Amino acid sequence: MKIDYTEFYELLKGTDLAPWIEQLPERITHGLRPERHGLLPQWEEVLAQLPLVEATSSSLSAADLKTEVRVEGSTVQGLEEQLKAFLPWRKGPYHIHGVHIDTEWRSDWKWDRVRPHLQPLEGHTILDIGCGNGYHCWRMVGEGAKLAVGIDPSPLFICQFFAMKHFIQNPRAWVLPLGIEDVPDTPGTFDTVFSMGVLYHRKSPMEHIEQLKSFLKPGGELVIETLVVDGPEGYTLTPNGRYAKMRNVWFIPTVKTLEYWMHRCGLKDIRTVDVTTTSTDEQRSTDWMTFESLPDFLAPANPTKTVEGHPAPKRAVVIAKA
Ligand SMILES: C[S@@+](CC[C@H](N)C(=O)[O-])C[C@H]1O[C@@H](n2cnc3c(N)ncnc32)[C@H](O)[C@@H]1O
Repeated sequence: MKIDYTEFYELLKGTDLAPWIEQLPERITHGLRPERHGLLPQWEEVLAQLPLVEATSSSLSAADLKTEVRVEGSTVQGLEEQLKAFLPWRKGPYHIHGVHIDTEWRSDWKWDRVRPHLQPLEGHTILDIGCGNGYHCWRMVGEGAKLAVGIDPSPLFICQFFAMKHFIQNPRAWVLPLGIEDVPDTPGTFDTVFSMGVLYHRKSPMEHIEQLKSFLKPGGELVIETLVVDGPEGYTLTPNGRYAKMRNVWFIPTVKTLEYWMHRCGLKDIRTVDVTTTSTDEQRSTDWMTFESLPDFLAPANPTKTVEGHPAPKRAVVIAKA
């Protein structure tokens, strides 16, 4: 398997996204330049050596994205060793040829909270901002999306995506090595736009929401999933220093504040469909992500607080129309 977008560009021909065919190659090369990560050549080498897949059948609507593949000359143990070259695995789970990738996050639980509230994704062209290794993009294709385009600037997550693509072999999900700031300016092209786990990392959340809206066709659906805190409309937590040991958390609104921000950005039919406190069953260290995780980010004596004394992570899903 090679990191190669030729097939993606073919899919874009004759669509509203055709201008991307000209604009993307340079941006993708930039996103994957060797200086982005010292291990990139090593990861590409492992991708090139993944075993030949003889036949595959995938279930993209199963929680663990199970693929039953016949793999030539490869043992489960050999495949596990190869896939562990891409540690840490944060988003999943995946189940590939007998190898269960038990990721840090049960991303399927997030999808279960989001999916029942979406307009049907059948035939949709979708943009998933900050998609990690693309787990939810596969699930969107499982719901009938025509094309699910994820973007994420992390070269490791791009390699994880291509490793899964090698086995899943479905042409409708793609993950591009771009930050939101690198997405070509083709306004009004997507039926559904997702921003999950990204808003609190943005220094300017209102600009983020405006940009998300600009990607949507009129009447298209925006799905924002983000950290929230309890409190009235107008209140926003601006952590002084770290939040749950993360350095890059800027604004955590209340649900009412977030709804108001979305209203101010011109979105309509705004509805909060879920608010859930993140559990240590949903985010935890595993054999596939051996660093610290949520249990280490909570105050040992009071797990309703982070180690810094902020409210423990709670997330909301808010959906609106452009
Ligand atoms: C908390 S994760 C959320 C992953 C996934 N959307 C989910 O909900 O499980 C945030 C992701 O945003 C990505 N990210 C960081 N900076 C970004 C940027 N400028 N534009 C888009 N994504 C970015 C990170 O690499 C990371 O994968």
